[in-house]
Amino acid sequence: MKKVISLVLALMLVFTLAACGTKDKATTTSDSQTAADKETPATDTKSDPTEAPAKALTIGVVQTNANESDWRTANTKSFNTAFDEAGFVTKMVFGEGDHAKQISQAQQLIQEEVDYLVVLGLQSAGWEDVAKSAKEAGIPFIMADRKLDLTEDLYTAMVCSDFESEGNKAVDWLKKQALPENKIVVLGGDTGSSAQLGRSKAIEDGAKANGWEIVFNQNMKGWDETLAKQAVADLIAAGTKFTVIYAENDNMARGACDAMDAAGITYGKSGDVKVIAFDANKWALEKVLAGQFNLDVECNPLHGPRIVKLINQLEAGETVEKNAYVDEEMFDTATITQQVVDARSY
Ligand code: AHR
Repeated sequence: MKKVISLVLALMLVFTLAACGTKDKATTTSDSQTAADKETPATDTKSDPTEAPAKALTIGVVQTNANESDWRTANTKSFNTAFDEAGFVTKMVFGEGDHAKQISQAQQLIQEEVDYLVVLGLQSAGWEDVAKSAKEAGIPFIMADRKLDLTEDLYTAMVCSDFESEGNKAVDWLKKQALPENKIVVLGGDTGSSAQLGRSKAIEDGAKANGWEIVFNQNMKGWDETLAKQAVADLIAAGTKFTVIYAENDNMARGACDAMDAAGITYGKSGDVKVIAFDANKWALEKVLAGQFNLDVECNPLHGPRIVKLINQLEAGETVEKNAYVDEEMFDTATITQQVVDARSY
């Protein structure tokens, strides 16, 4: 009888120990191990040399122009750095001012079966066929920087700037200046880009609402600094009076200032002409601090980490925010400090 009881107790002990071992494994995650596990070499698939490493994601990026502006340079660098750090393979193509070229480049990337397609459109319109092709191919279509004219069923997510809001910040600031007269020169960006459309709409609506006069309103192909300088030089040569430069990026604002310098026209904090710029590149904020630009409205180019986060969320099967607008601020020569400038990362 005693032998039977001992046997039963021994069996109970064996089963109890076995159950404890099983329970521990069931509650640990792949990256947390019990002491016992650590002592024995792992035999899971991770350490199996025959197991191929997970295939790196390939991200197609349809970028505007390689040398469009300092903003674009920072934007391209942000993608490349963040995607490299994330272990993505990047296939970046540049439209170089040609919308049709961007469309064919995007279709080509779809043919190459990239895992994700990130599009920064030279033009807002004309992307439906590409978006439909991506959808049919099962490739998530992500808009970055500039919102495109697409219905929500045709894109996966967007991480963009609200350009009309940026322009409205400048209009509100100009209104507060209460200038004796507002004769505004508008130096627009690439015609038909959402950045140009939004910023131009804001100043045009603002001028109408406040009785301001827009004395010049033209878009500079490629956001070109030299074209902006020449346009302002021509206005000065023609004797056109103006009191405000509304330049839709920093580079064009600098071009306008070069033209005013050449003609001896004063501008900025204590000058005859107020200078409004967009992007807030670090070098431009130095000009705000120096009183050469009166206002610089931020358009943040650092989309790389934002898109990496979005893709990782999608890969994890998480729901993502469909329409994310970048938080942006503005910098006034009356209040900016050296610390603010020093803290800028682009
Ligand atoms: O889409 C953002 C705009 O494109 C920036 O304001 C401009 O500098 C860039 O080229």
